[in-house]
Amino acid sequence: MTTRFSVAGIELELLRYPSRQESNLQAWDAADEHLIKLLTETGQAPVATGIINDSFGALSCALSRMDAAWPLFIETDAKTSFLGTQQNQQANQLSMGNLHWLNSRDALPAGLALVLMKLPKNLNYFAHQLVRLSQVLPQGTRVLIAAKAKSINAALLTLFANNLGPASASLTWKKTRVITCIADGKARELPQPSRWHIPEFRLEISNLSNVFAAGKLDIGARIMLDNMPEGNFESVVDLGCGNGVLGLRAAQLYPQAKIHFIDDSEMAVASSQANWHLNHLDAQHAAFHWDDCMSHLPEDITPDLVLCNPPFHQGEAITDHIAWQMFLDARRRLKDGGLLQVVGNRHLGYHIKLQRLFKNCTTVASNGKFVILQARK
Ligand SMILES: C[S@@+](CC[C@H](N)C(=O)[O-])C[C@H]1O[C@@H](n2cnc3c(N)ncnc32)[C@H](O)[C@@H]1O
Repeated sequence: MTTRFSVAGIELELLRYPSRQESNLQAWDAADEHLIKLLTETGQAPVATGIINDSFGALSCALSRMDAAWPLFIETDAKTSFLGTQQNQQANQLSMGNLHWLNSRDALPAGLALVLMKLPKNLNYFAHQLVRLSQVLPQGTRVLIAAKAKSINAALLTLFANNLGPASASLTWKKTRVITCIADGKARELPQPSRWHIPEFRLEISNLSNVFAAGKLDIGARIMLDNMPEGNFESVVDLGCGNGVLGLRAAQLYPQAKIHFIDDSEMAVASSQANWHLNHLDAQHAAFHWDDCMSHLPEDITPDLVLCNPPFHQGEAITDHIAWQMFLDARRRLKDGGLLQVVGNRHLGYHIKLQRLFKNCTTVASNGKFVILQARK
């Protein structure tokens, strides 16, 4: 794996976040390089620039290197992307005085003269981001979106036209293209969160656009809900909470417990919080944390139950390092005797990891595809 970013005379050392991970994945891709190459070739001036979906800061670091005073407004929904960008800015001795941070629900500033975006996997989320831009960008503002050439098709160009303005794609370079979209100056309305319910558990669920399981219960979550552990738990963590469905069920089953909802996605944390209220649960019994696993959870929180349906990808990359980090954090933070309950696709082999970390692992339930595992600290 290379960590040396070298494009158009700009040299950077870039790591993913967290920097120590067993995956062999790089912190940027050819689409990042394409955007930076284009900006240097066209002699782009350092105007107020929005940077959206910059995985680990390749774009913001490159622009800061080009001009330390370049005003950058960085929008991300992922805490790991926020932390990774900070890590890479520091590692490359870049001053951060020019950076302004936003999540995908914060109000965008007026006065952006240019926007750079990476195309995310989730196109509903992307459409949401374009609508946000349509509400602040004056007519004629350029938005440059870098993507793999194979992801660009007529439907995507229509999505631009419907949500922000007309768009056209560049020639292909290193299997990527840059789409130029010109804001048409017409403000669109933000989409409403999707809303659905799970009648057998009397739960109402709403999902903001970047939240896992947009309109129905995940199959893994379903088998977890059918096999919740029994006990008088007092402190429960829903780790990687998504819309919070596991923690909401825990609140019904263990009414005395405080439930901590944690997710890398700010929209997930916000959806969990919205769902807590939607289901008329007691505000005293919940806390919501936008975090990378449990890395910034206050030290006095020592759960006796951690519920976890781990992700098996980070952005576009398939990886089990987040699951591994979640299990490590659970082992560190659980009370002695506390329980970690995990659901996973059978082929992912989580039982091997749990056995290695906890020296015990029990299969609680399984079907053809999924397995529920418990490990006790
Ligand atoms: C498979 S989904 C499970 C969502 C929900 N618990 C459910 O069962 O429907 C995994 C969740 O982990 C979150 N996630 C990914 N990386 C994370 C990290 N580093 N720290 C915390 N959460 C993370 C994702 O945003 C996603 O919401």
